Amino acid sequence: MTRYQTIANELASMIAKGLLRAEDRVPSVRSTMRKHRVNPGTVLRAYRDLEAQGLIESRPRSGYFVRSSGVKRLAEPKQFKVTRRSGAVLVSELIFEVFEAMKQRVLVQFGSAFVNPELFPVELNRAGASAARGLKPAATLEYLPPGSAELRRLIALRYLDSGHIVGPDDIVITTGALEAIFLCLRAVTRSGDTVAIETPTFYATLQMLEWMGLRAAEIATDPRTGIDLDALKLAFASGAVKACVVIPTFQNPLGSCMPEEHKRALARLAERYRVPVIEDAAYAELYFGATRPRSVKSFDRAGWVLHCGSLSKCLAPGYRIGWAAPGRFTRAVWESKIMSSLTTAPVCQEALVRYMKRGGFEQHLRRLRQALSEGCREMLNAVSSEFPADCRMTRPDGGYMLWVELPKTVDALTLYRLAQTAGVSIAPGPIFSAQRKYPNCIRLNFGHASIPQIRQGVSTLAQLVKSAAGAGKPC
Ligand SMILES: Cc1ncc(COP(=O)(O)O)c(C=O)c1O
Repeated sequence: MTRYQTIANELASMIAKGLLRAEDRVPSVRSTMRKHRVNPGTVLRAYRDLEAQGLIESRPRSGYFVRSSGVKRLAEPKQFKVTRRSGAVLVSELIFEVFEAMKQRVLVQFGSAFVNPELFPVELNRAGASAARGLKPAATLEYLPPGSAELRRLIALRYLDSGHIVGPDDIVITTGALEAIFLCLRAVTRSGDTVAIETPTFYATLQMLEWMGLRAAEIATDPRTGIDLDALKLAFASGAVKACVVIPTFQNPLGSCMPEEHKRALARLAERYRVPVIEDAAYAELYFGATRPRSVKSFDRAGWVLHCGSLSKCLAPGYRIGWAAPGRFTRAVWESKIMSSLTTAPVCQEALVRYMKRGGFEQHLRRLRQALSEGCREMLNAVSSEFPADCRMTRPDGGYMLWVELPKTVDALTLYRLAQTAGVSIAPGPIFSAQRKYPNCIRLNFGHASIPQIRQGVSTLAQLVKSAAGAGKPC
């Protein structure tokens, strides 16, 4: 038995015997480290294992607690396998349909790609108004690529927190992470090239590949640890793959986070095979644990990791501020930005400089993480107690998405239409695959609806799923 299993078993048996009861605090990571003479990674692995079993849960800035709900959590999905080596991507039509539906105001927004707007700070509006008033026409030149020097400095300072150095000159401001990914792809690929991606993955990345005439090599992905590095290594070694796009921290749609050692190994693979790895870090700030997970970029020694960040998910969706830290491709991304959209709106850049300089960002992030973590816990409990027991579900440690595998007889696209009529939006599985796989899977957003709406929406969905599953044929 490995050391982390020993720790997990010991705590599980304390819970089973009633030595640790519902709502009790689990011994801190530090004290368990001392007791078992192991490093923090081993303890965290044991605690994650207990979380996955539904025995304990982490609460932001408070530690781990024994779960109060007697509901046994649904099992996690198995690894997502790949059946085809690579191919053209053909998903846009379906995605546009679902995207249009996202704009409709339904009662419960589980299909939305956004956080509840009420979770964002009102001070941002003041910063926006003050930027609009204060921006002098002549000063707009200062916001041309690579973007506001002050904004790049403030972003660079945030990287210091997670222990690695990205200088202001390594950063190019973009219009959201989406443009950053697009510019990075354009810098490292040509039409017809093959790009390795996770499966399932963020639908906009798929659309981008389709639109740029790139082929996708879907790589097997684990619902807990992310992209399969052995499979990726084979793809890199074959020479067929020209780049890779991954979401290592709170993957969309799975919510998974690659362990630190996997991130390090990914950075080494990029360096060894000289394959650019585009790291989509749009959700990196939304962690539920005590510390920000490290990025792949923090292990990058030779500039093969092109890191893409954003303030859309954690602070200001409407301002469309993102950035790329593209390593050895910085110059190419910078030039590409000029040709793509010249500049990202100066007033938006300036508004975020003003907001970030006045303080309060950290406090806002703490509140946001707390709200998302509560939404996550509520949704995990509600889905576990209401959905059929043979469903499977991921266990996010951050972000605001989770993935549910329904019984095989349930068709997610039909369910999505029925749910829409019943006032609940969901994101159907096929939009997350280049091959339109996952016909019986859905992605649920736990960061938009209120807690009562989560309960009500899950209950409505569960009824639809049960009647479809009971019908024995696709609903
Ligand atoms: C994984 C992922 N990357 C990037 C983006 C886009 O981020 P932005 O709004 O900063 O362009 C999203 C938005 O849904 C996302 O889910």
